[in-house]
Amino acid sequence: MNSNRHYVIDFDSTFTQVEALDVLGEISLENQPDKDERLQELKSLTDRGMGGELALRESLSLRLDLLKANKNHLAPLIDVLKGKISTSFVRNEAFFEENSDHIYIVSNGFKEFIVPIVKELGIKEENVFANTFVFDDEGKIIGFDKENVLSSNNGKVEQLKALDLKGDVYVIGDGYTDYEIKAAGLANKFYAFTENIERDKVTEKADHITPSLDEFLYVHKMNKAISYPKNRIKVLLLENVHPDALQIMKNEGYNVSLQTGAMDEDELAEQIKDVSVLGIRSKTQLTKKVLDNANRLIAVGAFCIGTNQIDLEECLKKGIAVFNAPYSNTRSVVELAIGEIILLMRNLPDKIAKMHEGNWDKSASHSYEVRGKKLGIVGYGNIGAQLSVMAESIGFDVYYYDLVEKLALGNATKCNSLKELLQTVDIVSLHVDGRKENKNLIGEKQFKEMKDGVIFLNLSRGHVVDIEALKNNINSGKVNGAGIDVFPSEPKTNKENFESSLKGLPNVILTPHIGGSTEEAQENIGNFVPGKIIEYINTGSTTNSVNFPNLQLPILENAHRLIHIHHNKPGIIAHINRVLAANDINIVGQHLKTNETIGYVITDIDKAYNIEVVKELKEIKDTIKFRILY
Ligand SMILES: NC(=O)c1ccc[n+]([C@@H]2O[C@H](COP(=O)([O-])OP(=O)(O)OC[C@H]3O[C@@H](n4cnc5c(N)ncnc54)[C@H](O)[C@@H]3O)[C@@H](O)[C@H]2O)c1
Repeated sequence: MNSNRHYVIDFDSTFTQVEALDVLGEISLENQPDKDERLQELKSLTDRGMGGELALRESLSLRLDLLKANKNHLAPLIDVLKGKISTSFVRNEAFFEENSDHIYIVSNGFKEFIVPIVKELGIKEENVFANTFVFDDEGKIIGFDKENVLSSNNGKVEQLKALDLKGDVYVIGDGYTDYEIKAAGLANKFYAFTENIERDKVTEKADHITPSLDEFLYVHKMNKAISYPKNRIKVLLLENVHPDALQIMKNEGYNVSLQTGAMDEDELAEQIKDVSVLGIRSKTQLTKKVLDNANRLIAVGAFCIGTNQIDLEECLKKGIAVFNAPYSNTRSVVELAIGEIILLMRNLPDKIAKMHEGNWDKSASHSYEVRGKKLGIVGYGNIGAQLSVMAESIGFDVYYYDLVEKLALGNATKCNSLKELLQTVDIVSLHVDGRKENKNLIGEKQFKEMKDGVIFLNLSRGHVVDIEALKNNINSGKVNGAGIDVFPSEPKTNKENFESSLKGLPNVILTPHIGGSTEEAQENIGNFVPGKIIEYINTGSTTNSVNFPNLQLPILENAHRLIHIHHNKPGIIAHINRVLAANDINIVGQHLKTNETIGYVITDIDKAYNIEVVKELKEIKDTIKFRILY
């Protein structure tokens, strides 16, 4: 704490993520027929005011006229605003507590809603300078106190003059009126706060652009415990990853930039230089050339299932952990499988096609309910097991077979061989993984073992089924219906034609590998991957990493965590421990995991250590990366 420093902070869109009068409009205009037009006008007046295009008093009067608000609308407004305090403010609550004598809210908004909100973070009521409403006898808001300097066009400047603060004054805000304080010579610096909104007219006037409060605290070298420099972690998200991912990373305090498309190799090799975390989907190729330039990269998020587009071995050699979202679309595949079974049991693919050709074919023959039918699941992994539970809940009698011992869920029955399963069930659904031994897992021999009139589904991998054998068995009537989502050879893009001998066969559903392709799966991926990366950065845990040895670590308490990634050579852990012992440092806990390429050692030590130790640890031969968590 420095008693010569004063912090002047704006309220709307700085302290909170929103403009309070916009929110008030949402509440007060709730049942008005022209609500949308009025809100639109309100927003445009706010923006013109903030950008310095419209005089403040005029903008305030016009906005209050539009609102038709009254006293009763204030309590719900305050409730909403409490949940909308800027995330970096909430994260740095200690800053407000420790500096409460020197933090001033100076706003052209209204005390009636500002005071209860800023008090949440310990700001003193007497340090809030803002307008006040004028109400009529019925409680309607009919204007504002025109005596208050903050209702006048140069109000913030006048207010600061009246405050007459001695020492250094820093202004943090998102509006032009905040800049004017500095322009009038009443502040040392103006920080344009862009966490919630970025206005070019304001940022171009700023001494410093601060994307979050963390950046401000970092620049001012304030206590590390308050401002862990997460804003120095630059995250680059490509290929339109789900907006949830952006929000989660921003909320964590990272400095996130977003690009909708993929980048080619040269462009990415250039852009990646100062990036700490890269997020991609399937189009971005993460090659050795790109990685050679990635000086600060610590983690890659593949916002998809596959990771073929990433040179995983090179990432490993460089100590870069890669995370993906392998199970985020499990539910989507299961739902499609169940839907297809129901369609096929009712012969619907053919009936639908006939209707489109004008043929009315009403009949119950060869149409069955699924209730009580025997469903056979081959591969009882994530998808197989979830299918088991859902299928049972709608009345299927479930059987399963897996290469490895798997516990039966619900009332499912385990089969001891593939043959036993195939001979028992009415429907066969494949959910095995893509290992090469599974090529043609189902061929002539296996079809023969199935019951006559079986329904057959493959939503796993294309090469596990001998397509010619499937075709023959459909044509012979042995297989009465099939749902196939994956093929031995699939078009690479939507522009290529789909070729298959299964086209045109009766009661067959063909789909373009979309078993897991749903909006929800994308959303799950957008939530899962950032979670893994944040956990890795905060604790060092590598659970579910595609390339790193998997380590699940306890939460760090009253200790420092040393994270050491090295080439997998003998003697390194002994070397680390020698350095620590020689410096009289106590080890609280140690975890090690290796794979063929790297060793990953986490050492928790009690608080005291000196900077020399860090240097010595970094200098251990074969070290790839070293970092400390406080
Ligand atoms: N259609 C799509 O869009 C889509 C989407 C997601 C996953 N998939 C595919 O679905 C399949 C299953 O995915 P998951 O997440 O459940 O995988 P998983 O790894 O969790 O489960 C696979 C299971 O199959 C078992 N298995 C492997 N070979 C076997 C064999 N020959 N006989 C019996 N059991 C065998 C394994 O022991 C494991 O339990 C994978 O092939 C995956 O690529 C497809």
